[in-house]
Amino acid sequence: MKTIDELLAEGVTGKRVFVRADLNVPLSGTTITDDGRIRAVQPTVEKLVAAGARVIVASHLGRPKGAPDPAFSLAPAAARLGELIGADVAFATDTVGESARATVAALTDGKVAVIENLRFNPGETSKDDAERGAFADQLAELADVYVGDGFGAVHRKHASVFDLPARLPHAAGDLIATEVGVLKKLTEDVARPYAVVLGGSKVSDKLGVIDHLLERADRILIGGGMAYTFLKAQGHEVGSSLLQEDQIPAVLEYLKRAEEKGVEFVLPVDVVVSEQFPDLKTKAPSSHTTVPADAIPAGAMGLDNGPETNKLYASKLADAVTVFWNGPMGVFEHPDYAEGTRAVAQALVDSEGFSVVGGGDSAAAVRILGFDENAFGHISTGGGASLEYLEGKTLPGLAALED
Ligand code: 3PG
Repeated sequence: MKTIDELLAEGVTGKRVFVRADLNVPLSGTTITDDGRIRAVQPTVEKLVAAGARVIVASHLGRPKGAPDPAFSLAPAAARLGELIGADVAFATDTVGESARATVAALTDGKVAVIENLRFNPGETSKDDAERGAFADQLAELADVYVGDGFGAVHRKHASVFDLPARLPHAAGDLIATEVGVLKKLTEDVARPYAVVLGGSKVSDKLGVIDHLLERADRILIGGGMAYTFLKAQGHEVGSSLLQEDQIPAVLEYLKRAEEKGVEFVLPVDVVVSEQFPDLKTKAPSSHTTVPADAIPAGAMGLDNGPETNKLYASKLADAVTVFWNGPMGVFEHPDYAEGTRAVAQALVDSEGFSVVGGGDSAAAVRILGFDENAFGHISTGGGASLEYLEGKTLPGLAALED
């Protein structure tokens, strides 16, 4: 994989460099609530600017349906990138149309443009190779060189991630190099004890990684919405909590394998429940109570780990030498249900081990809850991407950067 420094050594002055970033940031209206992913690509953009390249930054945002949708515009991200690099950033209101072509043509050496959300074009995510290829051909016309730096999207076989690098000389940006370097530490010769904390809503999203981790981790701590499927599999009632009934056989199989292999599986012992899902907009206080995890009343919905669980999880993380954490422990966006996620983050800050916070929601959570990013070993920008990397899958966006 060619590095960006090798690319710069070849000379990029005056060249149009297409940077595939992951600017898929959380938004409240047009306000960015966590700009971590924009800051993560900033070093690559700045290196290219300093080298006199004409930089075209492209990304997806959200999951629009292959057509323009103002709710998913990259305009706020382009403005934020401009603030961060301290320079004007031009913005094209389409992906490969008149605006993109004119914006790129107007770029001078060392200047930056962002083009509109790539997913406004159906070719970006198409399963049809020809349709994706046709879009990649159009994108290729905009640039001379490709730099892959959207680590969060490298698990997607999308036109800008997979097909475009095949059409242009390409290199990996600094973010991808860093992310891959860190994740390698979790897959090759990991320092033990190795603890993994998995949260988030769906067990089905985590099956592959659990399967893989059962061969590698010493402890697996489960939280968030997915914990209720585990609790149900153990024969407990979970009220109106999130439940993936169809995943119970898989969960039982994992619990059995964990026991056979001596992998410690840790589940919540108490949970914070409410009769209603809280209002995340107003964040108005919601009525809630803490109950033992094996005594969730009918009609009650588990929304966070309880205090005993928080102590238990902190104790399981205290002596871990390596920790990977993906997925919040509860509805952290609401103050009544943020304690479980905060407790895991605090345990990682307090531990002397090497901690990797994997991706999207958990990365946003630690920043939104006010933790210092430098207190963690590494905060990944990739949720699904880091999980799939740990599963040992071939990631299209990384494969495409190999020569
Ligand atoms: C992410 O948020 O994990 C990445 O930006 C990929 O987004 P996607 O799951 O919509 O492809």
